[in-house]
Amino acid sequence: MAEVIIVPDRADAGALVADEIVSLIRRTPDAVLGLATGSTPLPVYEALRPRLQGVDVSRVRGFALDEYVGIDLDHPESYASVIRREVIEPLGLTPELVRTPPADDPDLATAGERYDDAIREAGGVDIQILGIGTDGHIGFNEPGSSFASRTRVKTLTRQTREDNARFFDSIDEVPRHCLTQGLGTILEARHLVLLAFGEGKAAAVAGAVEGPVTSMLPGSAIQLHPRVTVVVDEAAGSRLALADYYRDAFANKPDWQGI
Ligand code: GLP
Repeated sequence: MAEVIIVPDRADAGALVADEIVSLIRRTPDAVLGLATGSTPLPVYEALRPRLQGVDVSRVRGFALDEYVGIDLDHPESYASVIRREVIEPLGLTPELVRTPPADDPDLATAGERYDDAIREAGGVDIQILGIGTDGHIGFNEPGSSFASRTRVKTLTRQTREDNARFFDSIDEVPRHCLTQGLGTILEARHLVLLAFGEGKAAAVAGAVEGPVTSMLPGSAIQLHPRVTVVVDEAAGSRLALADYYRDAFANKPDWQGI
């Protein structure tokens, strides 16, 4: 089962996950990071910044989960721009080694396949950071997505477009399509770390961790993975039936285990 860690706030979650990433990079200077966008992973990136001072990150590689289709990649809210602004520049990563799904590829039908090939050629993702949508999506795999899916074009649900309208001037500007890693792609990462904060994510988190494994809640795919860490604040963890057990397990965890 997933290891669930309930923390007081976002900063604690960021610190916990950042520590794990730093120790990975120290062990493996050319580690492959699976990067997520949205507001959820920001505390991780913020916590990484001071921790990576003095650490050689020049060989660290990265693959983002998803990208909008239909907006210019230079648009400030394209995930290429977000990853550049929130990850590559502040952490000093080598831009050529960090990729986002190429939503500007003239051959979009096969672009996903080439992205998956690039991940494979890099040796696979060592640690995949994940947020979760209020409808249970991970990456942009909306309800109904196949657990075997690969990187491909998807249509965003109305709910996701409404959720993401806050990043744009209006919902009409939110793209309708995206190029997202598939659930099958995501499940190939060696370690999945899913973060969620706030009451609005409580139902999706409970469904993903404890509900039936169903494509209707794509986040439940994490139950098929052997190494998953779920880090939530009290509000996002408020609907977890086994919350007391998770707290007890984490409080009594040997230090050497990490997360
Ligand atoms: C976005 C992204 C997902 C993200 C999710 C939650 O649309 N494509 O990767 O996990 O929706 O977003 P947020 O973290 O802003 O709540």
